[in-house]
Amino acid sequence: MIEASLPIGVFDSGMGGLTVLKELQSAMPAESFIYLGDSARLPYGNKSAHTVQQYALQASSELVSRGVKALVVACNTASAAALPQLTEQFAPLPVFGVIEPGARIAAQAAAQGSVLVLATEGTVMDGAYQRALLATNPKLKIHARACPLWVTLAEQGYASDTPESVTITEALLSHAVRGFQTSHLTVLLGCTHFPIFRDKLRTHLKAGVKIVDSAQTTAQQVAYALGRVAGRVGDKNHGQIKFLATDGVERFQRVGAYFFGQAIEAAELVVL
Ligand code: DGL
Repeated sequence: MIEASLPIGVFDSGMGGLTVLKELQSAMPAESFIYLGDSARLPYGNKSAHTVQQYALQASSELVSRGVKALVVACNTASAAALPQLTEQFAPLPVFGVIEPGARIAAQAAAQGSVLVLATEGTVMDGAYQRALLATNPKLKIHARACPLWVTLAEQGYASDTPESVTITEALLSHAVRGFQTSHLTVLLGCTHFPIFRDKLRTHLKAGVKIVDSAQTTAQQVAYALGRVAGRVGDKNHGQIKFLATDGVERFQRVGAYFFGQAIEAAELVVL
């Protein structure tokens, strides 16, 4: 029997998953969370599936050993490479990934049109988004592009509006959607870092293009699955959040605040 008062464990390769934590917190404000960012081994996006599976298992084991009532794999690359293994390893603990919720909403939004998945190299090569999209709607035309530089850009603060950021960022955003100048398109942001670029990306797309974000849809699915509908939780107190990082806690707090949208007062260093 899993104790309802336990926190929800959230794991990512680093700070980007804080975009998912932000949505989880907003969907379930009374829940407590424990977030582990594997900052020592970031990025996962260009590593082999085997290595990502090992890392994901170690990080998840750390969270499970601390006591959690559910596990959210906020990292798209780790969800693509390791979700089946994690689900099996930790059963009956509920384990959620970000691929299926994002793909389902994007497939619905696209109707009979095209979906462009933007993600890391590992996620694109794995094909998990492509499979999940087709499982919802076999008639979709699916395209996928790896945008590995966006991860570095986001972490270096290049989503801001300084002249240097604008030149570099706009060039990369424009490159990612080159050849997709149609309004019959849904863009699926399949990486933790990419919601940061949502508004800028929109300016490179035709009017009417839908942009779907895995972070929001995952939070909705987790809230629904755990039976906690936003604003209707019994406990009026705000839940607690504990942060763990495997390297550079100062950088984790500083850069993480940018993704989380609020200050991170403390983070604990853990060795996996
Ligand atoms: N968290 C990763 C993802 O969502 C992006 C960063 C990385 O490559 O580790 O795919």
